[in-house]
Amino acid sequence: MAEGETIARAAGVELALVCPQCVQARGEEQPLVRAAPQGPAAGWRCPGCGQAYGRSAGGAPVLLLPGTAGAAASGPVPADPAAYYERARTREQYLALHYPPPDADPLAALLGPHAPPLAERYPLAVPALWRAAREPAGERRAPEQPGDATSAAPLAAAALDAGAACGRLSFELAREYGLVFGLDRSLGLIDAALAVQADGVARYERVIEGELTEAVEVALELEPAVRGRVRFVVGDALALPFPAGSFALVLALNLLDRVGEPRRLLAELARVTAPGGMLLVGSPYTWLEEFTPRPHWLGGLRDERGQARRGAQAVREALGAGWSLVREDELLFFIPHHARSGQLGRTHVQSFRRQR
Ligand SMILES: C[S@@+](CC[C@H](N)C(=O)[O-])C[C@H]1O[C@@H](n2cnc3c(N)ncnc32)[C@H](O)[C@@H]1O
Repeated sequence: MAEGETIARAAGVELALVCPQCVQARGEEQPLVRAAPQGPAAGWRCPGCGQAYGRSAGGAPVLLLPGTAGAAASGPVPADPAAYYERARTREQYLALHYPPPDADPLAALLGPHAPPLAERYPLAVPALWRAAREPAGERRAPEQPGDATSAAPLAAAALDAGAACGRLSFELAREYGLVFGLDRSLGLIDAALAVQADGVARYERVIEGELTEAVEVALELEPAVRGRVRFVVGDALALPFPAGSFALVLALNLLDRVGEPRRLLAELARVTAPGGMLLVGSPYTWLEEFTPRPHWLGGLRDERGQARRGAQAVREALGAGWSLVREDELLFFIPHHARSGQLGRTHVQSFRRQR
């Protein structure tokens, strides 16, 4: 790699960030270089097409395709406060979803003993899903040692959390993978993830009622070295800034029905998954025109012959030959809105292995 290229390194794993514009336009993987590392114009630049990329207030690279909303040529990129995932209220809700207080489960406050335990819900239940997918029954060895290069999750491999929001699963991945990218299109959510990364503590305001809130602090219990294996990037999962075949594990949970072009998302996720690697795609299939124009819905409607189209099958068909479905799981999530209300949903997770 040439000097000055933006290479992420952790635990012996290396990965170059590449220009998303060059990948999309010409299929070229041009590693980005730092531009003016200090000062107001600090950012990244593509030596191939000359495109400059800015950074979030927290310092994350903002690698959005030029011309798309939120993209900026250099320096700090302002967030659009009207965008749903940039709203302060949305950010607090996602922090509450990702970092629930272990001793004050908000769903248990509503359902009492009927609430499924935190450990069985999103996000805490997800690592067990990727482990089970990686090592299907019969092949499983116990107990898995992080850092054991012979284990199925070698620390010498990279993982991607696409649509990472405020980063909980990126940190969980870093317990097992040497280099983890948490990518999201929201500047505010990525900066919230960076704030957690700084000292391993999530801080947010829990809404009690109306404008009444109380401060919550949840410690991740993750050593600085492990947190340091995560790199947060503001980017578009439809135009990923990574070379093909970069990741041994790719997660895309609750993202499919929030992007404008779900098929393009699946193609991008497939592109960056390494041969033999795993791809976990999870969705409650909540198709809404606010996020996905109806012609791009993968499911939830009838085709021209009147046949019902379902999202789960469309995901399998879109990935197609070369991918095997290893397992399917159901994952409950609860996003607290205030002390007496919230959104309860069930994500359907399909785990695929890319054939070699
Ligand atoms: C429903 S949330 C799910 C977040 C997280 N994966 C989870 O399950 O808690 C959808 C996330 O996808 C992000 N997002 C939406 N469109 C995106 C895109 N094109 N590229 C990357 N992230 C996107 C949003 O900013 C938001 O954080």
